[in-house]
Amino acid sequence: MTTREDAPGSTGGADVPGPLHGGPDDDYTPEQLAAMSREDLDLLGARYDGVQVLHTEPGPEPGSRLEKAAVRQVALTFALAGLAAFAAFVVYAGSGWFLPDWQWEITESGWSALFTPLIGALGGLSLVLVGVGMVLYTKKLLPHETAVQDKHDGSHFDRVTTGATLVGGLHNSGLARRKLITRTLVFMGSGVGLMLVMPLGGLIRNPNTGDPLGTTSWAEGVRLVRDDGSPIRPGDQVPGSLETVFPAVPGGNRQSDAATMLIRLRPEQVRVDRPRENQEDFGYGDYVAYSKICTHAGCPVSLYEQETSRILCPCHQSQFDVTRGAQPVFGPATRPLPQLPITVDDEGYFVARSDYIEAVGPTYWNRERI
Ligand code: FES
Repeated sequence: MTTREDAPGSTGGADVPGPLHGGPDDDYTPEQLAAMSREDLDLLGARYDGVQVLHTEPGPEPGSRLEKAAVRQVALTFALAGLAAFAAFVVYAGSGWFLPDWQWEITESGWSALFTPLIGALGGLSLVLVGVGMVLYTKKLLPHETAVQDKHDGSHFDRVTTGATLVGGLHNSGLARRKLITRTLVFMGSGVGLMLVMPLGGLIRNPNTGDPLGTTSWAEGVRLVRDDGSPIRPGDQVPGSLETVFPAVPGGNRQSDAATMLIRLRPEQVRVDRPRENQEDFGYGDYVAYSKICTHAGCPVSLYEQETSRILCPCHQSQFDVTRGAQPVFGPATRPLPQLPITVDDEGYFVARSDYIEAVGPTYWNRERI
């Protein structure tokens, strides 16, 4: 068997200096390379790379108190990262099982308000601890070396010696003999892995009840009120004006999906008004009410140009014609603004006759419900 000493042109590793002539693939056959140890290949590759080591600082002495203390610090950090990741998973998976269920509708306090921030905080803490553990490991346990080297040319020799260098890096990391760190790494990896895939659980189990993204607070008999809560009667607005209204329910003026434009058409607009099919009676007199959420990407639309009867969205310039059922007539929106059916109650105030009959907001939500 060819040894490193008999190999033509071999340096035999760093301990045998010698001139390096021709390309490395001319100096060493694949069989000779295969016969060398990983350490020799690593050193040989470094010589051919023209590696110049500028500075070396060995890691802590194996088995020393310094190394043991550093191992404990790193292992503790990885263990805490794993614990935080598992906790995030438990919050997510346990909600509705042994923890309270959470709902899309957030009340002022309680589990639903805590649910998302808790998962975010635990997940964030876990990832920060992963980073801290990596930095501690690199700083305290790995040997430090500063070196410069030439670029590789991709020859067989380069591939073999680079492979040896990479394996050598793993070997020098000392992971194989630092069992405490490998165990906590496995624990942390399992937790972080679970945490990263757990959002896919939403595809299996939807914790929301009802259709929170397809419905709003509007319902039969709910009054239309201004931001300050005052109700509106027909005649309060001048023809050609627009007012933003909200459902008269607790917190109604903070529900962005329920924001609605109440528009009083001018007589000439009423004459040419062509509501959408089966929505001919959604208006009341010369009033119509449309969702304020753009069907393109959800921006609030409220730039009303009464001369052209168009509502403009400032985000990407979609325009909706209020005399044609708020159909889009310009821009990227492809769906009309949903119309709120309205009437007046016994006291003469505007009320909704029902919720919107279609999802408000971006067209995406108009997909077939499942
Ligand atoms: S969000 Fe309105 S046009 Fe894009």
